[in-house]
Amino acid sequence: MIIIALDVPSAEEARRLVSSLGETADFYKVGLELYAAAGMDFVRELKGQGKRVFLDLKLYDIGEQVKRAVATISTSGADFLTIHAVKQVMQAAVAGRGSSLELMAVTVLTSFDEQDVRDDGSAFTLAELVEKRVGHAIEAGVNGIVCSSLEVARVRAMTGPKMKLVIPGVRSAGKSAADQKRIATPAEAVANGADYLVVGRQVTRAEDPRGELLKILDEIQTLSTK
Ligand code: C5P
Repeated sequence: MIIIALDVPSAEEARRLVSSLGETADFYKVGLELYAAAGMDFVRELKGQGKRVFLDLKLYDIGEQVKRAVATISTSGADFLTIHAVKQVMQAAVAGRGSSLELMAVTVLTSFDEQDVRDDGSAFTLAELVEKRVGHAIEAGVNGIVCSSLEVARVRAMTGPKMKLVIPGVRSAGKSAADQKRIATPAEAVANGADYLVVGRQVTRAEDPRGELLKILDEIQTLSTK
């Protein structure tokens, strides 16, 4: 299942993309940029059109704030919400979660590499840090994990089939990797156990977004029938 990242600065641009993708896409990610421009009104607008919404706010705050924010977000009908995979944050989010909202814990941003993790003061390697946070996410009872395509197989082995794995940072072979450091192709990520792929610029900046999305869907389909 593909989630299209609406990384655009206004509701008008987001609407244009949603309408150009039509029935081809039914799950959208609203991240910080669009949230800052159009807020929860736009989330409700998408829900009103029957779309599913992944609200990517990557919450990280004291427990009481996280719990109350998650409880409020739950009332919007948003389907997925991201929080950082830190024990206290996840426990608070689980306490605030309403019945239909699913919490996705972000382990380590896909733009981080080994050096970034070290510079941040971690005594662990990147892989160890991801593993530790996945363990905490399982204990906290969140619904899924956001991780890099290069970690998905290992994370799947830890979580078993029940958790949803969301993978950003995928690019079809031959496409520019932009600022993503840990990337794979969509087909590789699915083969390694991803449930949801987050695809942004490859589709949203394409001359023909719908055509580009259809190509990716075809790549994945080809792999699964091999
Ligand atoms: O690179 P692309 O435009 O496909 O990014 C789609 C989404 O993946 C972004 O909205 C961002 O949240 C996420 N991403 C990420 N790490 C990166 C680049 C993008 O998690 N290095």
